[in-house]
Amino acid sequence: MTVPAARLLSLDGRVALVTGASRGIGLAIAEALASAGAHVVLNARNAGRLDAAVAAIRTSSGSAEAAAFDVRDAGAVTDAVANIGDRLGRLDILVSNVGGGVRKPLAEQTDVDFTAAIDTNLVACFRLARESSRLMVPQGFGRILATSSINSFVARPTMAGYAAAKAGLNGLVRALAVELAPAGICVNALAPGYFPTEANRTLRATNPDLVAQVEARTPMRRWGAVEELGAAAIFLCSPGASYCTGQVLAVDGGLLASL
Ligand SMILES: NC(=O)c1ccc[n+]([C@@H]2O[C@H](COP(=O)([O-])OP(=O)(O)OC[C@H]3O[C@@H](n4cnc5c(N)ncnc54)[C@H](OP(=O)(O)O)[C@@H]3O)[C@@H](O)[C@H]2O)c1
Repeated sequence: MTVPAARLLSLDGRVALVTGASRGIGLAIAEALASAGAHVVLNARNAGRLDAAVAAIRTSSGSAEAAAFDVRDAGAVTDAVANIGDRLGRLDILVSNVGGGVRKPLAEQTDVDFTAAIDTNLVACFRLARESSRLMVPQGFGRILATSSINSFVARPTMAGYAAAKAGLNGLVRALAVELAPAGICVNALAPGYFPTEANRTLRATNPDLVAQVEARTPMRRWGAVEELGAAAIFLCSPGASYCTGQVLAVDGGLLASL
């Protein structure tokens, strides 16, 4: 008998690792996956904030634990993923969400700024995916979801490293999707539009013109709420996404669709 479609969105019994999950988009995705039944391992660097995020998920009856490490630290990534395999016996879902970068005019962007953006947004995702695949391939099941950005398609001034890294991330998603498809692993990305988080708090406070410009440019005439990424993440991480791979899904209020 075929499984009812709604049940294919259940994450009961699944183990997920979400990076950058102590606040903002990562926390919203972690909460969404937990609400769908997954046991979620939340990652960030600051252990105190991470523990608060884990406690919030547990309070709402979700299953969660913390794993504090820096995704740019290759050894820490290897150890953290192996530790999940050793203790929990499996890893079904990786949400590679950490990202960001400094905004500076081109002439002021140093080589260090540029390579830091590539390291954080791209190299870290590559390593996390490689280490996760060591657990997912033998299982014959896996879902890898990266947080890209609409800036992987369209750019604003002062974001050379970030835009280049996110465009590279889309390429990584396609390459891994093709390679891992025979193992039952689907690899996709979300490309958020504009969402108010700590990452852009200063920008919003100091640049009201940008806030208004985003609203005017977005067909829905507003910024997104991080919770609006949750359902898309559940789908792309679920058994129901079994024939969906190599895709970058914009969640942007229609911004990319409009001229
Ligand atoms: N907000 C938007 O409008 C928007 C739009 C498009 C794409 N995005 C993408 O969405 C993702 C999340 O952005 P956000 O706005 O939610 O950011 P945010 O609110 O600043 O949250 C960043 C999270 O990542 C953690 N983190 C940062 N660097 C880390 C590292 N090296 N290792 C481990 N954890 C780290 C932070 O905790 P610690 O500081 O404690 O480590 C925090 O939990 C990024 O990839 C970003 O590029 C955001």
